[in-house]
Amino acid sequence: MHTRSLGTTGPQVSALGLGCMGMSGMYGDADRAESIATVHAALEAGVTLLDTGDFYGMGHNELLIGEALRSAPAAHRDNALLSVKFGALRDPEGGWGGFDGRPAAVKNFAAYSLQRLGVDHLDVYRLSRLDPDVPIEETVGAIAELVEKGWVRHIGLSEVGAETVRRAAATAPIADLQIEYALISRGPEKEILPTLRELGIAVTAYGVLSRGLLSGRVAHDQRFDATDFRAHSPRFQGDNLRHNLTLVDSLRRIAEQKGATVAQTAIAWVLSRGEDVVPLVGARTRERLTEALGALEVTLTEADLAAIEAAVPADAAAGERYAPAQMAMLDSER
Ligand SMILES: NC(=O)c1ccc[n+]([C@@H]2O[C@H](COP(=O)([O-])OP(=O)(O)OC[C@H]3O[C@@H](n4cnc5c(N)ncnc54)[C@H](OP(=O)(O)O)[C@@H]3O)[C@@H](O)[C@H]2O)c1
Repeated sequence: MHTRSLGTTGPQVSALGLGCMGMSGMYGDADRAESIATVHAALEAGVTLLDTGDFYGMGHNELLIGEALRSAPAAHRDNALLSVKFGALRDPEGGWGGFDGRPAAVKNFAAYSLQRLGVDHLDVYRLSRLDPDVPIEETVGAIAELVEKGWVRHIGLSEVGAETVRRAAATAPIADLQIEYALISRGPEKEILPTLRELGIAVTAYGVLSRGLLSGRVAHDQRFDATDFRAHSPRFQGDNLRHNLTLVDSLRRIAEQKGATVAQTAIAWVLSRGEDVVPLVGARTRERLTEALGALEVTLTEADLAAIEAAVPADAAAGERYAPAQMAMLDSER
């Protein structure tokens, strides 16, 4: 497995990380045994970076990862690096209630995550969305205290803009920013990526398949369960979806010439953005994981990249990447 560095201060991680969110319900029901088998298969293949959040299934995802780690061979378990998000508030019905980045809350969230995961430290710890009521310096400062005490190894950020990145980096060393970055989600390229590169901070890119849209397996009349993120995602609605699937068809023609799948080509494109970009793939079955890992064997030449750019130009997607209420929570979109 190729490795990449999480910034100038972070750890070496596998070039692809496994995003575990879908194992706890964001895309409909998931099979627990298959989810655990997927984590095991990822570790076996040399994936070391596992991404989770304490709010994914209100602790469900962390308990699942903890179980998967305990039942994995010791050598694989020891290689695993846990990247954990916190701060999103939930309720018993599964509703969302804003974000909490207060120092006392940071330490409280971390204490519960350590217990649920069954580990003695978290490798990368990050606030999931900026808390508008708490300066980033206070939240990052609280994580830095956890680093000093050995409970956390590295500090990450999630979906924040360039100015917040600078303020965070002036407070403590930052390993990476987690942000949506894909062929059809190019927002970070304008200001955020150059800032990260100036400061030696890596990107862990999520949504590299735009929630499965860039997999080539979504139909124009597909229906999603109300609990599925895509039921409310602007990119998966009506005319937007029809338009976006024409982009997928264009990408499919290039993928076929490369002997790759659409998903592999989309992941390979994100991999081609630089050694400081680590795509997280949201696989929850071994089959999907195997396909995603195949992207590591796809080399895109300059001609391929130019063909992809022509087929799927930046800003070509119809619809925002989140519904309006969720867009409003993104410091990265200000
Ligand atoms: N920081 C943040 O704000 C944030 C936000 C969202 C996610 N994340 C993290 O990033 C990870 C990845 O994000 P994501 O899951 O939203 O994005 P994604 O990888 O773009 O999309 C996942 C979706 O793509 C489908 N898929 C995956 N591999 C496929 C393949 N080879 N062929 C066809 N379809 C495939 C999955 O299918 P199935 O439905 O069949 O499994 C799933 O529905 C998450 O697990 C989470 O850890 C972070």
